[in-house]
Amino acid sequence: MTQAYKWWQTGVVYQVYPRSFMDSNGDGIGDLAGITQRLDYLEWLGIDAVWLSPIYPSPMADFGYDIANYTDIEPIFGTLKDFDVLLHEAHQRNMKLILDFVPNHTSDEHPWFVESRSSRESSKRDWYIWRDPSPDGSPPNNWTSFFGGSAWQLDENSGQYYLHMFDVKQPDLNWRNPEVREAMDNVLRFWLDRGVDGFRVDVIWMMIKDAQFQDNPNRPEWKPGDPPYARQEGRYTENQPEVHEVIKEMRSLVDSYEDRVFIGEIYLPVPLLMSYYGESLDEVHLPFNFQFLELSTWSASTIRTCVDTYEKALPEGAWPNWVLGNHDRPRIASRIGKEQARIAHMLLLTLRGTPTCYYGDELGMQDAIVPPEMMHDPQGKDNPIHSRDPQRSPMQWNNQPGAGFTRTNIASWLPVSENYQHINVQTEQNDRYSQLTFVKTLLSLRRSIPALTIGSYTSLDGVPDECFVYIREQEGKRYLVALNCSNKEQNLSLAHAKQGSILLSTLLDRNDQIELNNFVLRANEGCLIEIND
Ligand code: GLC
Repeated sequence: MTQAYKWWQTGVVYQVYPRSFMDSNGDGIGDLAGITQRLDYLEWLGIDAVWLSPIYPSPMADFGYDIANYTDIEPIFGTLKDFDVLLHEAHQRNMKLILDFVPNHTSDEHPWFVESRSSRESSKRDWYIWRDPSPDGSPPNNWTSFFGGSAWQLDENSGQYYLHMFDVKQPDLNWRNPEVREAMDNVLRFWLDRGVDGFRVDVIWMMIKDAQFQDNPNRPEWKPGDPPYARQEGRYTENQPEVHEVIKEMRSLVDSYEDRVFIGEIYLPVPLLMSYYGESLDEVHLPFNFQFLELSTWSASTIRTCVDTYEKALPEGAWPNWVLGNHDRPRIASRIGKEQARIAHMLLLTLRGTPTCYYGDELGMQDAIVPPEMMHDPQGKDNPIHSRDPQRSPMQWNNQPGAGFTRTNIASWLPVSENYQHINVQTEQNDRYSQLTFVKTLLSLRRSIPALTIGSYTSLDGVPDECFVYIREQEGKRYLVALNCSNKEQNLSLAHAKQGSILLSTLLDRNDQIELNNFVLRANEGCLIEIND
């Protein structure tokens, strides 16, 4: 009997950064009505689920990841009514909608924190993490914030420090307090009752901190100028054993609704990452797999090792997933170049597991050049090199000033990338060799070939060092993915079968029959091949 697969196993997730996707009202900032206007594009492209970065009321110290009210919509983005329209319109098109849930911290302007900081006796004092100063008045321990400096902020009024693992305006909640859990369960219910299809949970592996508040080990190799988040090991601030219980509780709530997905943002080495599926697969459905964001080099051998190691480490029954880009890391086309970005997409969309795409990567968008005076991101405050603004520039819809993102006479909140005149949806839709045409074709092949979603995966030996080659197989149908990760032609001679038909080349210019014991991949070419015998 064929196993039934869930939508989040066979589908493709597309991340929208709402501030930068589509501005419908001409204020230079993207909004929900704008996303609704562009759903036809997403349907045309062929994605299955949209994940929205946070859309809740926020002072925007960390662009929505500092939430002041979990059950409403930020006015810049619209209203709950706009949200309901978006959700309805997405569902009309058979697309799912996933929200970003940020439980580790709130905004310092959230009424819970305002109450908590009002006095040591506040009924919500224990909802956050308050500690007395060290005897010399300095912070309680050495923990540093991901954005730089101490993770502790002194509150003059009460003489205690509060913890903020991110910006000073993002106080960490105390997840050891049952009232916090209950309040957050109600938040989840609020959105699930409204019909959302699941959540991507922000920094889920950091939600519980060491009960003894022990110092984190500093990384001796770290030097000023390196990313602030790399300064310390998170031994006592991340991946604490008690976090698994918290996640299980949330998952069981999500599971009490039909057919929802629960995804966790987790930056951990593969063996530790696996523990977040849960011993009985009862934690997150998909612990985000960020290995492609973190590869030290983009080469066939590192990619193969990474995929094979991950595949081997997966617990029985756990579903894999792959992420190519997000709002926190430089864009794929900037990291590895535009030619290899096509290879990366062929990889992402033909590996076993749920792919997550980042808006605009399907066009080959690159990090925008953002002048220092236009930078906003708190992570860039000590060193603009670490700013995440460049990868958050407006979506490029057409070649008009404003790139179709905003009205032509309005300045967008971040500058549009200077290459918008040729890298944009409209131009690329009319170019049969564009990256967009390539990604769309690949997405539609993925949809029509079950082996690419639910088939087995086997990587092949005996290929040139610069190539990564694997087979996807389902019910006797076999497909070969051959990726040339170099800018030199490569000759392949595969003994696994004799003949194949090229279904898609990254260069979009061949659909020929080939002899598998002798075929050539051109520089930077990847091919999806149906094996004929
Ligand atoms: C996550 C988000 C990032 C944010 C941080 C704090 O890593 O992806 O954008 O700054 O959490 O919420």
